[in-house]
Amino acid sequence: MTEKRAQFATRLGVIATTVGSAVGLGNIWRFPYEAGVHGGGAFLLIDLFFIFVIGVPVICAEFIIGRHTGSNVRGAFKILAPGKAWGVMGYIGIAASLLILSFYSVVAGWTLEYIFQSLSGFSGVHTVEGLHNQFDSFAQSDWRPVMWTLLFLMCNYMILARGVRKGIERMSNILMPLLFLILLVFAVNSLRMPEAMRGLEFLFKPDFSKITPEVLLGGMGQAFFSLSLGLGCLITYSSYFKKETPLVKTAFTTAGLDTLVSILAGVIIFPAVFTFGQEPAAGPKLVFEVLPSIFSNLPGGMIWSTFFFILLFLASLTSTISMSEISIAYFVEEFKMSRAKATRLNIVIAMVFGSLCALSFGCMSGIKIFGFTLFNLFDFLSSNVLLPIGGMITSIFVGWVLDRAILREELGISSSRMSRLTMAVIVFCLRFVAPVCIGLVFIFGLNIF
Ligand code: TRP
Repeated sequence: MTEKRAQFATRLGVIATTVGSAVGLGNIWRFPYEAGVHGGGAFLLIDLFFIFVIGVPVICAEFIIGRHTGSNVRGAFKILAPGKAWGVMGYIGIAASLLILSFYSVVAGWTLEYIFQSLSGFSGVHTVEGLHNQFDSFAQSDWRPVMWTLLFLMCNYMILARGVRKGIERMSNILMPLLFLILLVFAVNSLRMPEAMRGLEFLFKPDFSKITPEVLLGGMGQAFFSLSLGLGCLITYSSYFKKETPLVKTAFTTAGLDTLVSILAGVIIFPAVFTFGQEPAAGPKLVFEVLPSIFSNLPGGMIWSTFFFILLFLASLTSTISMSEISIAYFVEEFKMSRAKATRLNIVIAMVFGSLCALSFGCMSGIKIFGFTLFNLFDFLSSNVLLPIGGMITSIFVGWVLDRAILREELGISSSRMSRLTMAVIVFCLRFVAPVCIGLVFIFGLNIF
């Protein structure tokens, strides 16, 4: 079955869908946990550098490729550079998207568990200690996390298989602004906590002595992960853009809104971390321990909590749908599989790896590869290695190989001074800044030599 090439009807549709892909667990779960582990302000600074200096130009590069070819990742590189090695982007895309889908589904599964825990009022537990134990006993219980992971992937499968994607996306376009509003309410609530200042200082005051190669690598990975950048997700999305869609502006809006959500999440979490005497470097479980403490101290907390985790679940779903699409398109095109079969294959692979990731908090927690549990390995490998490599290839391709006329046409460059300057800055970033920065972070962060 070939898909009809649709186009986004309105400018709002373009922004909402692109931002919808970017905003997800990456902002609300991953950003606070990574910032907590990597020293707060220093990490935020690196993250912001990579989002606006490297991320925005690379988003533009993916947009240029996508809209010009009107095709998915594999197809796009085949059209622009037939028979060349650039097709390797296809392999990076499929590997990274499957790794991400696997561990992402585990965390999305936690949100499902927490919808039910909220409904039960966290079984009457209110103390910080009690809520911590509740998370640990859940994560270590083995069958429950696996069950939620599989259930989440089933939801993902049903949406993809039944072609009700459009419906979900339309619904999320209404619900995501609601998520944003709820985050604002929680942020105001956190700002009124006794230790709010300490939390804000931790998040916003960079301690330059904390900038280590590891922080650089982590900040770069977070920027790519949060922007859905580096594996061609945005190539696919922008293939649906209209000719009139202003790419640079859309790139900035996406990056800006995405960053805003991450920072809001930080403003919610860190004041609470210090007020309740929790550990900022708690790792992946941070948000799932801190949020319940916040909710249990809020009037009508259980209603807020239930509603919040439902919205977070939907935000995750729109992100995983976009991830699945990458490997499904690949299976269909490369192996001439039917779409239904490709969808099943994608979900089955994610179910196997996802279950293993879920178990790596419980019975498989002792199994370490390069010192990482399977969950952490998947996260590290995809976010910190594969996505930046994908971003590097994309920026080199658009900066050095792609015909300048295509760039000028897609970016809507006129003869005005401002317009020429924009083009020059973007090309400079793509040619030099992005590849060199990513390369240097790899060399130091991964200790290559
Ligand atoms: N950006 C999303 C988030 O923050 C996750 C995501 C969706 C993603 N699609 C992607 C990450 C493609 C990398 C590549 O939750």
